[in-house]
Amino acid sequence: MKPKELASALKAASEAARAAGDLMRRNLRRTKKINESSHHDLKLDLDVRCQRLITRRLVSAFPEVPVLGEEGIDERSLGAPARWVVDPIDGTVNFAYGIPHACVSIALQVRVPKSSGNAFFRTDVGVVYDPFLGEEFTAIRDLPARLNGRPIQVSQRKRLDESIVSLGFAKSEATLNAMLPAVGRLAHQVRKLRLMGSAALALVYVADGRFDAYIEPGVRLWDIAAGGLIVECAGGEFWCEPLPGDHVYRLNANNGRLRRQIERAIQS
Ligand code: IPD
Ligand code: CA
Repeated sequence: MKPKELASALKAASEAARAAGDLMRRNLRRTKKINESSHHDLKLDLDVRCQRLITRRLVSAFPEVPVLGEEGIDERSLGAPARWVVDPIDGTVNFAYGIPHACVSIALQVRVPKSSGNAFFRTDVGVVYDPFLGEEFTAIRDLPARLNGRPIQVSQRKRLDESIVSLGFAKSEATLNAMLPAVGRLAHQVRKLRLMGSAALALVYVADGRFDAYIEPGVRLWDIAAGGLIVECAGGEFWCEPLPGDHVYRLNANNGRLRRQIERAIQS
């Protein structure tokens, strides 16, 4: 896409995120309809309503670009030249319990052919909107990341013992069991651990230098696509490794100085 189209995509994503964010804000303290419940996760009717609202807006601005979202995947998105990746409410459990730490995450990805014949999707636009603090984090590839229009940067901290590392346990017993021993080791080596319940917000907090790193053993593409670009455009490292399963990744996002130290600490 050309720079002008990327700017229009950012505008469309921002408007859609703000519309869904308004709906979230109005409903934070209300009783919410639960569509699905498991031990470590909830799915709300509002997740679905927010994705519908976002999809309507994105499709009216870019009719040819399909949506791959947490609450439903347009099959065309798997091979399209461009696609939206949408997490309508990231931090659903926080939101369900009335905790105002949740956001909307929208990315635009473009399909890039590789000489090997395979292609991959690259994120070129990202918006993460926190409706409770009125914070909108945005990025367009190769331009500075921004918070409410002002450029942001990752922290400069080099030492793990001065760092705040955020983490997520994902949603299964397996990911919990994988992370718990690592957390025990890491806790002794960092200034603080934080477990706040929104992957997308953890990423943009790394981008803005509030956190120094964020790790999670099994996130999904919609949790991380927008925030990952925002970390990179803020000068950080967005390291992720695909895992078996659809759109699943192990993640270590950081200020560009801490990944190896974190890995060593986890394994020690
Ligand atoms: C979850 C949150 C959580 C992370 C999980 C995600 P959801 O997304 O980002 O912090 O630990 O891996 O799935 O369900 O709130 O959209
Ligand atoms: Ca999510």
